[in-house]
Amino acid sequence: MAKINKNYNKLQAGYLFSEITKRTKAFQTNNPGVEIMRLGIGNTTEALPPSIIKGLRIGVEKLAQASTYTGYTDEQGDKRLRQALSDRYKKRGISAGAAEIFISDGAKPDTANIQSIFDVKSTVAVQDPVYPVYVDSNIIAGKKEIYYMVCEEKNGFIPSPPGKKVDLIYLCSPNNPTGAVATKAQLKKFVDYALNFKSIIIFDAAYSEYIQDPKLPRSIYEIPGSSKCAIEINSFSKSAGFTGVRLGWTVVPIGLITETSGPGKVNELWNRRQTTMFNGASNIAQEGGLAALSLEGQRECKKIIEYYMDNAKVIKQGLKSLGIVVFGGMNAPYLWIKTPRSLSSWEFFDKLLSEAHVVGTPGSGFGPHGEGYFRFSAFGHKENVQKAVRNIKKNLKL
Ligand SMILES: Cc1ncc(COP(=O)(O)O)c(C=O)c1O
Repeated sequence: MAKINKNYNKLQAGYLFSEITKRTKAFQTNNPGVEIMRLGIGNTTEALPPSIIKGLRIGVEKLAQASTYTGYTDEQGDKRLRQALSDRYKKRGISAGAAEIFISDGAKPDTANIQSIFDVKSTVAVQDPVYPVYVDSNIIAGKKEIYYMVCEEKNGFIPSPPGKKVDLIYLCSPNNPTGAVATKAQLKKFVDYALNFKSIIIFDAAYSEYIQDPKLPRSIYEIPGSSKCAIEINSFSKSAGFTGVRLGWTVVPIGLITETSGPGKVNELWNRRQTTMFNGASNIAQEGGLAALSLEGQRECKKIIEYYMDNAKVIKQGLKSLGIVVFGGMNAPYLWIKTPRSLSSWEFFDKLLSEAHVVGTPGSGFGPHGEGYFRFSAFGHKENVQKAVRNIKKNLKL
C-alpha cells in the first residue's frame, strides 16, 4: 500500500506568491483598465547578449550534424565548462579544480538536493528571512531541526554564527531577500565556527556578480580555511540571464571534512548523487555558459548587470525621497524596505497596490523576521521601473 511522504504536510503552505497573485487579480477585477506595475519578481527581463546567443547557436548547430552531435554527456558537466569556471576562480585567487566543480541545471535544484548527502539527523541553520528552498528541502527530507539565525536591522541583516552546535549552515550572500552582503570578517566567523564544529557551510552565491564593492567577497573561498568546510553553489541565471535557459554549478572541494569523513568523501558522495539522479545539464545551455564566461561574454553580462543595478538606484532614490528606510540595492538586485508607520508587510502590499498600482513582495513571506519589511526587485525594463517609481512618489500616501 502506497503511503505519501508525510513531511510534505509539515511545509508552510506555498502561500506567498499565490496570495500575491490572488490579491493582484482581485484588484484588477475591481479596477478594470488600471495598469499594474511589478517590482516584485526575481526574474530577469533583458535579452541575452550577442556573444551568448552565438554560443547557444553553436550548441544547436552541433546537434544538426552526426559528426558533432552529442547525446548524454558527462553528468558532472562539459569538461571545457568546468575548466573555464576553474580558470575564473583562479583569476580571482581561488583554487577550485575542475574535478571539484559540478555543472547543473541551476542553483535552486542544487541548494535543494545538497542536503541529501548529509545525515538525516543533521541540525540545519538558515537565515531568517530566508530563500524558502533551503528550509523546505530539508523538511521534505525529514531533517528534524531547523535553527533560525535572525537577520535584523541591528546586525545589518547578517547574523552571527549559531550559539550552539549545528551541522549544516546555509548562507546566501548577496542575500535574497534582504540585499545584504556579508563582509570577509563576517564570513570568517562562520568559517571559524564550521572548522571548530566540523560543520558544513552551504554558500549560495547566485548574486555574486552584483557585488560592486571590490572589498566584499564574491566567493566563500576568499576566506582562508573555507575549502575544508564550505560548499559553494552558483548560477548563470542572474549573472547571465539564464533563468529560462537553466545552468548552474556547485563546488565541492576535495578537502572538505565532516565529523564522520575525511577529504574526498563529500565530493565522492555528490558525484554519486548526481550520477544517480541527474543526467547532465543541456549541452546547448553549456555552450551558452562557455560563451558567457568568455571575455566578450563577461563584458556584455556586466553591462546587463549594470542596467539592473541602475534600476536598483532609481528605486532606492525614489523610496528614500519619500522618507522610507531602504536597505540593500547597492551590491544586490534586491531592496529591503522597512514598512512605513509600522504597517505589516501585507498591509503595505495592499496600500502600495491600491494607491500606486505597484506590486512588490511582502517580507513576512520569507520568515518571521521579514514581518514589517518589504522586498523590491531591480529586475525589470528600465521604463517600467521608472514609471512604477514615479507612481509611488506621486500616489503613495504616507
Ligand atoms: C538565493 C537564490 N538562489 C538560487 C536561486 C535560483 O537559481 P537558479 O535559477 O539557478 O535555479 C534564486 C532565484 O531566485 C535565488 O534567489
